[in-house]
Amino acid sequence: TKAPGAAPPDTTDLDRLRAAASDCHGCDLYRDATQTVFGEGPRQAEIMVVGEQPGDQEDRAGAPFVGPAGRLLDRAFDEAGFDRQKIYVTNAVKHFKFKRDERGKRRIHKTPSRTEVVACRPWLHAELTAIHPELLIFLGATAAKALLGDDFRITRSRGERIELPEFDVTAVATVHPSAVLRAPDRDEAYQAFVADLVAARGGR
Ligand code: URA
Repeated sequence: TKAPGAAPPDTTDLDRLRAAASDCHGCDLYRDATQTVFGEGPRQAEIMVVGEQPGDQEDRAGAPFVGPAGRLLDRAFDEAGFDRQKIYVTNAVKHFKFKRDERGKRRIHKTPSRTEVVACRPWLHAELTAIHPELLIFLGATAAKALLGDDFRITRSRGERIELPEFDVTAVATVHPSAVLRAPDRDEAYQAFVADLVAARGGR
């Protein structure tokens, strides 16, 4: 039998999905996280962006991409010519996974396991069905692999347009904004990130 609330209700009503996800025990991450961080944005969004999982600040705020990675993402979307009003933002995994530093104070991000990504995937499917965007943008390997399969490599296929007929959507994967923040040459990494977003938009 399934854990409580592990499967989304059969609905495209985002408020109902969000309410149901708040009780999800589909994997163990709910135990230590503050709350479920569901996607946000207009239901008529033409573009859906998928990150990895909420970070420390997102876990506290209950909203995706409100921390440092989110600020970089906002700036990059502006620069790439996107209208933020048309974008729905979510994550492949909807609870923050972390470990404590040695002093037990800071919460350090841990990459979610394949099992956790798969456990959370029905929620991503439900959001995708509800939003039905024209364009799906994956930020980083965890997000891309969630829907494109474990063999997908960002390094090989970033910026390529990939048709996903089962969801009637075009997908493009690029790096995660946190990877841009950590890059040795941050400026170059940022420009390449913006270029991928421009290509995703179908621009030049
Ligand atoms: N990183 C992510 O992948 N998602 C967030 O919501 C924040 C940081």
